[in-house]
Amino acid sequence: MIGVFDSGIGGLSVLAAIARALPRADLIYLADTAHLPYGDKDDAYIRRRVLRIGRHLVERGCGVIVVACNTATAAAVAAFRKAFPDVAVVGVEPGVKPAAAMSRSGQIAVLATTSTARSRRLAQLIRRHAGEVQVRIEACPGWATRVETLRLDEPDFVEEARRHLAPLLAAGVDQIVLGCTHYAFLCPVLEPIVGSQAALVDVADAVARQCVRLAGEAAQGRSELSLLATADPARLQAALPALGLTWLGTRLSSAPCLVVA
Ligand code: DGL
Repeated sequence: MIGVFDSGIGGLSVLAAIARALPRADLIYLADTAHLPYGDKDDAYIRRRVLRIGRHLVERGCGVIVVACNTATAAAVAAFRKAFPDVAVVGVEPGVKPAAAMSRSGQIAVLATTSTARSRRLAQLIRRHAGEVQVRIEACPGWATRVETLRLDEPDFVEEARRHLAPLLAAGVDQIVLGCTHYAFLCPVLEPIVGSQAALVDVADAVARQCVRLAGEAAQGRSELSLLATADPARLQAALPALGLTWLGTRLSSAPCLVVA
């Protein structure tokens, strides 16, 4: 069994890539909706939540757990690995390495939550993988919460996105890393703004490939999906059509379920 979790519906972008790559695997998706967003919380709070969620997924029999959240990975993946040494843990980190490799202008940007933007882990990732490429970190407070509302293309948000992206594009940025799993669902808003000036870089497929490498027996299940949440679980299933993920609903083995974690 493969467990995938996030603060909310953002990690569904990663779950979808995993479900495509591992069509027979049994998957559990847990959204910590009672405690979202993670992106404006301090590290100790995020670590506590992540360890609680991890324990719940381990107790449900997950041998592979995907932290489908850049914020949780930055704040807590090391503690998570230490707490669950027998579990294969896959973190999600902004695609600085592929973006730097693809950049022609030598200027890239990372869009992220406030917590990820200030994290030591992102600074290390940039030091390790950006080389000579200049990286601009753009904190986007409120964007993940916007995705949760499913009001994705309202004019006020389009304006806000333009305000964040215009200076980056003016500086010659040609790769924009989506450093929060919620932001994958903002592509229909972001793409028209960046046009042909920059590419949006998402790591969901790379994470799915890592899951394929680690899955072992977990790859061979009954193609069943369970959706769990710490608040309002029905919202997860209801969100699938608006996110372009109706097909994931066909793998549901039961109604979405409330969990206490
Ligand atoms: N989806 C998460 C991420 O990748 C966190 C969003 C939030 O809860 O602030 O960072």
